[in-house]
Amino acid sequence: MILLNFKTYKETYGNKAIELAKIVKKVADKTGIRMIVVASALDAARISKETGVEVWLQNVDEYSGGRATGWTSMDQARALGIKGSLLNHSEHGKPKGTILKIIKGKPDDFEICLCIGSLGQIEKWGAQAGADYIMFEPPSLIASKDKSIATEEPKMIMHVVEKAPGTKIVAGAGIKSKSDVEICLKMGAVGVVSASDFVLSADPEKELMELVEGFTGIIH
Ligand code: G3P
Repeated sequence: MILLNFKTYKETYGNKAIELAKIVKKVADKTGIRMIVVASALDAARISKETGVEVWLQNVDEYSGGRATGWTSMDQARALGIKGSLLNHSEHGKPKGTILKIIKGKPDDFEICLCIGSLGQIEKWGAQAGADYIMFEPPSLIASKDKSIATEEPKMIMHVVEKAPGTKIVAGAGIKSKSDVEICLKMGAVGVVSASDFVLSADPEKELMELVEGFTGIIH
């Protein structure tokens, strides 16, 4: 499983998001690996409709609809074909109580990937939160050009997997190579998340294919 987080990089504005998403769809179809575009709420429905790739949101809020000006509704997302969302990304933090409320109220057909950056949070409440996935990424390594969670903190991934036995773990922060992916999977993650390496590359398809090589023999 590979998540491609488009964040709000200007390289993903408008038609550029569609071009990147088409690459993700092409590589997913070719390799059989589950790939998800994690899109801006402004683009998510369009990307899903025009490319057919699986799309998640970068954030979802606790209000389902009606009088909830400016919030992102899970019900609205589902109605538009969006299949899931990140929650509590280190760039979009939420109070613990709100996170637990959102996860508790979510339907089975909408997947939530709870983002956590410290082992302590996993131990204290993250492992029991009931998320479909936990994305573990140390904030200090996000968008690093020469380091990653795999090169700097590989054993942390293993500890997260041990501490949250009922939840699938996705690893991220600085992921940019076949070796990064191999290490994450070896430590027990079911997949990885990449943003800057893919979105900012002059050749995103080549970068994505390199990440795919890390899955050789293991398809999630
Ligand atoms: O959501 C994943 C993201 O924070 C990782 O970013 O640029 O290190 O791949 P990046």
